[in-house]
Amino acid sequence: MTYDETGVERTIARLRREHPGAAGDLDQFHIGGADAVGMLIDGLALTEGDTVLDVGSGLGGPARQIARRTGSHVTGIDITPAYVATARDLTAGTGLDDLVRFEAGDIAAFAPDRPFRAAITMHVQMNIEDKTEWFSHIARCLAPGARLAVWEVCGSADLPWPMPWSLDGTDSFVVPADALHASIEQAGFTTTAWTDETPWVRAWIEKTFADGPPDGPSLPMLLHDGYTRVINFAAALTDGTLEIRRGTFTRAA
Ligand SMILES: C[S@@+](CC[C@H](N)C(=O)[O-])C[C@H]1O[C@@H](n2cnc3c(N)ncnc32)[C@H](O)[C@@H]1O
Repeated sequence: MTYDETGVERTIARLRREHPGAAGDLDQFHIGGADAVGMLIDGLALTEGDTVLDVGSGLGGPARQIARRTGSHVTGIDITPAYVATARDLTAGTGLDDLVRFEAGDIAAFAPDRPFRAAITMHVQMNIEDKTEWFSHIARCLAPGARLAVWEVCGSADLPWPMPWSLDGTDSFVVPADALHASIEQAGFTTTAWTDETPWVRAWIEKTFADGPPDGPSLPMLLHDGYTRVINFAAALTDGTLEIRRGTFTRAA
């Protein structure tokens, strides 16, 4: 199992003690950091009071960013208990406690009291074999006409391991962009945008790592073999083995 880090909160507390004052991009578990989340938010046309589901919410950076920028109520669900505990810990004291909450669980078993007005999912489906079923679970949690924004890894399944989502490839199910797009539509979504953001991502990687690893705490420090995983990912995006797609969809009535 790839996402089996424990003691993440303790590691973050230690990193913050060692790097006082440095914010770091610790809680954005995808390529493109907070800038990528900003692009997804633009596509969701959210207003204050909307309800948003973040599927596979990780350490909670995207959920907090959405709430902070839009005033929406965001629920994050994630299958890894240690990440959910860390997401809650990082939210405490930010003033966002009334807007953001995190639940531990599999989206397959999640039954919300009320359908959400919007959803995001970032860098989760690479671990899911049946992608139509996965996006059907998301559709089931949404009101008709609700928006879905995705930030997804697509391309060749033949990759150098480890990658951020898989240590050895046994739990990786990466497919080409066309196949992923078809699965999302088969799950009951209508496409508004399906954009190849790989050029943007390459420029982001160059800018972010121009002077080597950024100073201060960063996500690879929390993960087993974190730097190798990020370097392999960046290389596959640079040589075209992988691409990043940004999608915006509407849940069909
Ligand atoms: C690469 S991380 C991305 C986290 C977050 N979306 C972000 O971009 O910061 C993938 C996350 O998906 C979660 N995950 C994988 N399968 C899941 C499932 N079936 N239901 C909910 N979460 C899942 C993992 O625990 C992990 O936190």
